[in-house]
Amino acid sequence: MTQDELKALVGQAAIAYVEPGTVIGVGTGSTVNCFIDALGRMPVRIGGAVSSSQQSTARLLALGIEVLDANRVESLAVYIDGADEIDHTGCMVKGGGAALTREKIVADLAERFICIADESKLVTTLGRFPLPVEVIPMAAALIARRLRALGGEPALRSGVVTDNGCQIIDVRGLSITDPAAMEREINQWPGVVSVGIFARNKASACLLGTAQGVRTLRF
Ligand code: A5P
Repeated sequence: MTQDELKALVGQAAIAYVEPGTVIGVGTGSTVNCFIDALGRMPVRIGGAVSSSQQSTARLLALGIEVLDANRVESLAVYIDGADEIDHTGCMVKGGGAALTREKIVADLAERFICIADESKLVTTLGRFPLPVEVIPMAAALIARRLRALGGEPALRSGVVTDNGCQIIDVRGLSITDPAAMEREINQWPGVVSVGIFARNKASACLLGTAQGVRTLRF
C-alpha cells in the first residue's frame, strides 16, 4: 500500500471513534484531510467541529459541516489528528503543517486524542523530525539561541506565517528522551507561543496504518 492509501485507511478507521450528532475536534494535515473526507461520507452527520486550522475549516465547511468557535465549547469527547512522529508512549511531535498551537488548544479541550498516522511516523525516540516551535517574531533570535544551547540546530521556516500571525522555528538534531520535561522547559521561555511536543496532551490511542491493516496502539 502507498503512504496515501495508508492515510486513507486510518482516516476512515477513525470514524469508529466519532459519535453521530456530537461536536468533535479536528486536526490538520494530509491524514486529517482523509478523515474529513470520511466525515463527509457518514450517513448520519456530526453536530459540528472545532477546527485546528483555517485549512481544515475550509475543508469542513466545503462538506457542509458546521465549524464552531472553541470558546463556545466546554469539552469535546474526541480530538482526531495526525502527527509528524509518535513514540511508544503516545507522545508526539507535531507542527509540520504549522498548526501546532491551535492543535494543542483543541486537544486540550478533548477527553481523548486519537492519533491517525501511517507506520512511518512511529519512532523509538522523538526528534528525528525537526521540532517545530511557534514564536512571537520579536523573540525569534533569542529563542533560536536558547534552542542552540539545548543542542539543536534551529532554522526559521521561511515564508511561513501561522494562523496566529507568528513564525515557526524548526529544530534539527534534538534527541527528545524526556518529552514532558522538554515541553515544559521550552514552553516557559518568553516569546514561545507553543512547542510541537505533545506530551501533556499525548495521544490516548493511535490508529497506525500498516501494510497489514490498521494497528491500534493504546496508551
Ligand atoms: C500540522 O501542524 C501537524 O501537526 C500535522 O498533524 C502533522 O504534520 C501530520 O501531517 P500529515 O498527516 O500531513 O503527515
